Amino acid sequence: MQVAVVGGTGRIGRQLCDALGRAGHHARRLSRKLGVDVHTGAGLDAALDGADAVVDVTNVHSDLTAEVVEYFTTSTRTLLAAERRAGVGHHVLLSVLGVDHGRYVPHYAGKRAQERLVAVRGVPWTVVRAAQLHDFPAMLAQRVERDGVAPVPPLLLQPLAAEDLAAVLADVATGRPLHAMIEVAGPRTEDLVDLARRTLQARGHELRLVPTWRGVFGLELSGEAMLPGDHALLTEMTFDQWLAASGAVAAGDGGAR
Ligand SMILES: NC(=O)c1ccc[n+]([C@@H]2O[C@H](COP(=O)([O-])OP(=O)(O)OC[C@H]3O[C@@H](n4cnc5c(N)ncnc54)[C@H](OP(=O)(O)O)[C@@H]3O)[C@@H](O)[C@H]2O)c1
Repeated sequence: MQVAVVGGTGRIGRQLCDALGRAGHHARRLSRKLGVDVHTGAGLDAALDGADAVVDVTNVHSDLTAEVVEYFTTSTRTLLAAERRAGVGHHVLLSVLGVDHGRYVPHYAGKRAQERLVAVRGVPWTVVRAAQLHDFPAMLAQRVERDGVAPVPPLLLQPLAAEDLAAVLADVATGRPLHAMIEVAGPRTEDLVDLARRTLQARGHELRLVPTWRGVFGLELSGEAMLPGDHALLTEMTFDQWLAASGAVAAGDGGAR
């Protein structure tokens, strides 16, 4: 199958293209640096010509809700319109597990806007809501660090490996559209503060972590808000295995959200 991966040069997109290739499919990498912009539509029609499926793994790095929502709304509308013109048979959106609870998280507002559009714009679809990658806790701590201190939420999460997520996305993209949301998460429930501390320690990065719900994530994400439901697909690689394999590597498995 011909699968266009929008965001194919990103952390998840790169792994997805590799997974599609391994499974015998042809992955087309789309990104601004490669001449395709889903926000403006530049280069999109040519890039989608003959594509069977499209996976949207784009990202926007902003902490302003209005900016994030505008970016994801415009780019999703533009992408879906181009897919209709090209006769694409399956649109797959990568979203984030727990976005319904994160009312005040700008990125989650953008993902909810994308999910709503995907369900009504006439291209057969599947939304994959994924848990955070193993690397997320340490990345978050480093992002919010001030003078050696990082306020981080004591969030329960069930993180997964980028390779495992990519394999699931490749399967979904080359399968039939489900017209539904599915959840995918790692094998174990973990605590974000513990994971951040252990990852930073393995990398020799000294940082004092202060657990708090008054930082980037509020109390509405406490308890089981970010955990998968009973029907979620659970992947294999645990945090311990991931850390043993890549913990000392600063840019391991990646993941900002
Ligand atoms: N990382 C996680 O833990 C996690 C978990 C669940 C879900 N997700 C979701 O996965 C998505 C991707 O995350 P990521 O960490 O892989 O992102 P990333 O590394 O920042 O990559 C983003 C990709 O999107 C491309 N892109 C951005 N704007 C574009 C545009 N207007 N037109 C075409 N391409 C564009 C970028 O390439 P150019 O800069 O060249 O355009 C890049 O290839 C996010 O939406 C996130 O919500 C992430």
